[in-house]
Order: sequence, then C-alpha cells, then structure tokens
Amino acid sequence: MYSEKVMDHFQHPRNMGEIENASGVGTVGNAKCGDIMRIFLDIDDNGIIRDVKFKTFGCGAAVATSSMATEMVKGKSIQEALKITNKAVMEALDGLPPVKVHCSLLAEEAIHAALWDYAEKNGIVIEGLKKPKNDIHEGEDEEEDY
Ligand code: FES
Repeated sequence: MYSEKVMDHFQHPRNMGEIENASGVGTVGNAKCGDIMRIFLDIDDNGIIRDVKFKTFGCGAAVATSSMATEMVKGKSIQEALKITNKAVMEALDGLPPVKVHCSLLAEEAIHAALWDYAEKNGIVIEGLKKPKNDIHEGEDEEEDY
C-alpha cells in the first residue's frame, strides 16, 4: 500500500523534534481526522531556513510527509519554501494511497503557519502567504509538550 520511500521516512523520520526559541512555530489540525502537527523553523537574517523540526500526533503518512517536507524546505529561502506543495512532497515520496492524501496537507499547512508566525513576530508581510485555515494559534504561553 505504501511506497518504499514512505516506509523509509515513516520508520526513520528526519527532523523530528523541536527547536528552542524558533523563529516561527506553526501548529495545525487536520479537519478530516483531528490529528495535529507542529513545525518549528529557524530562519536566519537573510530569510534562509537554517533548520526545521516537526512533532506530530498523526498517522504514518503524516509522519512520512512531514519528514520529507522538512527535508525539502531546509536550506531554502522563504519564497522557495512557500512553493513546496503537498503534491510535490507526495511525488517525492512516490505517491500516497488516495485515502491518505489529506494527511499530506498537515505538513504544508504547518510550514505555512510557522512562516505566518515568523512574519507576525517580525512585523513583516510574506508575499503570497495566506493565513492557514486550520491554524491552532495558542499564543505566547504555549505548552512545550502536549
Ligand atoms: Fe490523520 Fe493521517 S489520518 S493525518
């Protein structure tokens, strides 16, 4: 049912964890299944994503797509990262079963939510970035773990 790449990223997820004092943090919920994803971005002064980590309460497909998505945005500019869609992530994983396509949206939306948080913190507007609709904004006093 799953490609070898999906199984590899599910069993050996890249970039799992969190970043202390991250430049931007995004938490989103999947409206279809209720699963949750949080992405941490470390962005340097030139707008390059130096590091990225994720945590999820999601299924195997969510873990695999997040792992691949974090690999794809690391080292990229904000504008390049914005162009990485869930479709591109699924292609990089050699596809997902149709019933699991919605899981791949979590990573894309969480990256956008983290970029939105970064923009808000810095008082800037990122061209082409819309506020993610499944954003779970928890304010400044977020719990480290949930
Ligand atoms: Fe919820 Fe996959 S079933 S993210």
